[in-house]
Amino acid sequence: MSAGNARAFGKVILLGEHAVVYGHPAIAAGIEPGVSAHCERGGAGPAALSVEPWRAIVHSGAPRGHEGAHALLQRAFAALVEDLGEVAAGVRVAAHAHLPPGGGLGSSAALGVAITRAILPDATLARVDQAVAAFESVFHGTASGLDAAVAARGGVLYFRKGEAGIVLEPIAPRSALRVCIGHSGQGSSTREMVEGVARQRARNAAATDRTLVGIGELAKTARIALEDGDQEGLGKLLDLNQILLASLMVSTPELERMCQLARSAGALGAKLTGAGGGGAVVALTPEQPERVLAAWKEAGFSGVSAVIG
Ligand code: PMV
Repeated sequence: MSAGNARAFGKVILLGEHAVVYGHPAIAAGIEPGVSAHCERGGAGPAALSVEPWRAIVHSGAPRGHEGAHALLQRAFAALVEDLGEVAAGVRVAAHAHLPPGGGLGSSAALGVAITRAILPDATLARVDQAVAAFESVFHGTASGLDAAVAARGGVLYFRKGEAGIVLEPIAPRSALRVCIGHSGQGSSTREMVEGVARQRARNAAATDRTLVGIGELAKTARIALEDGDQEGLGKLLDLNQILLASLMVSTPELERMCQLARSAGALGAKLTGAGGGGAVVALTPEQPERVLAAWKEAGFSGVSAVIG
């Protein structure tokens, strides 16, 4: 028997979700704790995966069309095992997710990265990206690869998937960012949200594309604000990004309320983070993050503060 341990970052998208699927830039940052995984090898039978605290146990050999409670996870794990090939035969992987599923914090990508690294500790970043793309495509449909890139690398990243390939540049913020991340208490499916934007685009390409381009422009400007340490400017860009996301119909009354509560409690800006339709909000809180957390708590929303960069 041989064993391996691995970790991966969760992520918060500061700007650019959805637009990034269409080739526009986005900025995201790794957050910890994300997902950890432990792999035992040497067993017989199909590869198996357990994920706590989701109480999920799946294996790679389930019949096609299997529709259990964790059907997506099962299909994603089977796709990952197939991509990794011989080295993944018969492995037993035990993962622990410190992120809520469907919470907009990149739990599925972090899970894919942690599992891949536990099975293949010497994998290059390119190999991890490839295996996680197979895993993520089950959850996301057309995934941009942003979540997977951040889950594997951490830090603050400027990401763009253009016709000429992926641009992935670390950003060094002039000052560390203190943010609050709040959860709406509602899960959502990234795949469904991405498909919703695609449907909107099919109906009204010109208007939707204008919005997507606008989001990308905000991400470009935010990079400059980050590098200059202009947190007030960055906060305004987050607010503008939220307006454009709402016009893509991926916001919800709860997410709007959380953003409003955060701004009233002193946040410089706030927006949904991830696919929307539920999930999480990120608020920029250089000072007194506890005021934002208290406002959310009073309204029945949970949240944590984190330092980025
Ligand atoms: O909901 P999350 O954390 O998986 O983030 C999805 C981000 C999208 O831009 C909506 C999709 C993608 O693949 O980039």
